Amino acid sequence: MKRVTLSAVAVCISVLMQAQPTLKIDTRAREIPVQETMYGLFFEDINYAADGGLYAELVKNRSFEFDNPLMGWTTFGNVQVRDDGPFERCPHYVRIGYAGHPVMFSGIENEGFFGMGIEEGKQYRFSVWARTAPFGKKGKPAAKEFVTFHLCDDDTMGENQMFFDEVIEVEGKEWKRYEVVFTAPRTVSDATLRIYLETWSEDESVEYRKDCCVDLEHISLFPVDTYNNDENGMRADIAQALADLKPGVLRFPGGCIVEGTTLEQRYQWKNSVGPVENRPVNMNRWNYTFAERQFPDYYQSYGLGFYEFFRFAEEIGAEALPVISCGMACQFQNDPNDKPHAALKELQPYIDDALDLIEFANGPATSKWGKVRADMGHPAPFNLHYLAVGNEQWGDDFIEHLKPFVEQIRAKYPDIKLIGSSGPYSGGEWFNDLWPQMRELGCDLVDEHFYSSESFFENNATRYDNYPREGTKVFAGEYACHGADGKKLNHFNAALVESAFMTGLERNADVVYMATYAPLLAHVKGWQWRPDLVWFDNTRIMRSCSYYVQQLYSLNKGDYVLPALVDGKPLTGQQQLYASAVVQGSEIIVKITNLSRYSQTLNIELDGLQGPVTGGTLTTLYSSDAMAENTLDNPDKVVPVTVDVDMAPCLNPQDYWQKGWYTNEQSDRVLKTSVAGSTFSVFKFKIR
Ligand code: AHR
Repeated sequence: MKRVTLSAVAVCISVLMQAQPTLKIDTRAREIPVQETMYGLFFEDINYAADGGLYAELVKNRSFEFDNPLMGWTTFGNVQVRDDGPFERCPHYVRIGYAGHPVMFSGIENEGFFGMGIEEGKQYRFSVWARTAPFGKKGKPAAKEFVTFHLCDDDTMGENQMFFDEVIEVEGKEWKRYEVVFTAPRTVSDATLRIYLETWSEDESVEYRKDCCVDLEHISLFPVDTYNNDENGMRADIAQALADLKPGVLRFPGGCIVEGTTLEQRYQWKNSVGPVENRPVNMNRWNYTFAERQFPDYYQSYGLGFYEFFRFAEEIGAEALPVISCGMACQFQNDPNDKPHAALKELQPYIDDALDLIEFANGPATSKWGKVRADMGHPAPFNLHYLAVGNEQWGDDFIEHLKPFVEQIRAKYPDIKLIGSSGPYSGGEWFNDLWPQMRELGCDLVDEHFYSSESFFENNATRYDNYPREGTKVFAGEYACHGADGKKLNHFNAALVESAFMTGLERNADVVYMATYAPLLAHVKGWQWRPDLVWFDNTRIMRSCSYYVQQLYSLNKGDYVLPALVDGKPLTGQQQLYASAVVQGSEIIVKITNLSRYSQTLNIELDGLQGPVTGGTLTTLYSSDAMAENTLDNPDKVVPVTVDVDMAPCLNPQDYWQKGWYTNEQSDRVLKTSVAGSTFSVFKFKIR
């Protein structure tokens, strides 16, 4: 437990002497189940969340398919880009030939994503598709062509830049995949990968070397130890942080990237499945969205595609929730007069994409798209239950576009739950206009987004109290506290007000079925948007204060909501206190946020218990500094602290301060306690 000053103790003891409010929890009223999907993840490829982040590939532009095919690469010597390669949808490759003199080199060097994170003792898989060029070998005298690759630490003051090297002999005129697995001898967080041509001939003649060359395509460097050891998998530490949230739902792949600045640039899931070598790249819209934070090399390789998302959702026990384009490009970025959206009569291919996606996820391995899934290694269906159509759309245009999707999906797949949109804001004209129309269309859930100030979160714990209880449910699909005055940081206070707001999500679990913080991930050197839940660089991660709030809710989600009332009313900001309660198996879990700076005494009465409370814990998230942030250098500055709670009666207030709480002498079901100031507290009471 944290230290308290003597003066704070004095203030609090005097408060203790006064009548204490009682938070009465009706432990029998188990009427509102908490959905399994309640707390989840929203993944979008923003802030280098996919390539350069969760997707473990270390080579940028591995297929030479960016608009500038050599972006991310430095070439030296004799290197040409060609476009008649073996992969139809990724036709570019490089030809590396004789440098012009026997002591010179030709080759390429990849910069990775802000460098490549290589860790000592870990295994890596280097792979490349290669051939000797058709005109390469003359056969006289006997000769060989090699590709040598180096991992380099360009900043070193040591003798060698190169800290690992390996040589691969390339044989034959047919394209073949070559692979080397090796153990890294050193940790370098911003390594580069250098690849060059070496040749050998029996008579060492220069004449021969002039004709030598190799063609290289789809050059990959991948850690072997990915999450769950999946090939083409996820960076283990980032994926583990997400798994540790035990999310109930995984929404993917966005966000705005679903829509595209133009329809051509929308996320097309069909481009993200099948062999990775043949997935065409797409410029990421976060490449240029903010003039003050531009990342011209930000593309989507689609290496982390829909198959990988479904597989990850399955591995972490979350419902997959794909979002697909409704045939409308980003409305923020387009003037409707320019006709940026698909005309209604041209909408069928977009609707087919939705129907085919359901077949990809759920269809038998004999169906067209089910077979694509099966061929990728998952013959069993993924059991998709949810589909969102459109991201932040609004207006009549959206309704007209959405309608035929709903009709055709309902007709073919009546069990799929459909998620509509309430636009980009938490209220206002678009929001008010859309909600009734979403209900009328029969959407199962409506996606609400709110990136708002502290006061919004403080004042909106009651947001869902008066929503209709029947029909369409809420998916709070994107939310985060963006500090007022431009303090868009992951500071402790933002997390604290989120915890207060979330008592309202929990209390209204009959209306709110899903909630996902956003955005999820950010590379410290490549972010466009903050705050974000988890930050990383090439070798480290940091879980933000908001992460811990999400985790405390998710791990203590509960089976049923329990009424938790003071004087017959929920705590929704009275004396800056917020509370909610659930029962989870044999535990009663009470979450209390105290936004005031001072400890406040409270009786927690567990009404209607059959037996005594047999033990408990108190977990607190606290910082004395509202602006405290976890960082990569200090990732544990603000973390939850759990103490066991001694349930024995404790009559002396002095002891109380040591124990953190004490039981009333008359009853073992009334717990006199104090909720510390500026703290999110999670009490767990064992009831049998
Ligand atoms: O989360 C960042 C962006 O915020 C999402 O892409 C979009 O849906 C919202 O505007």
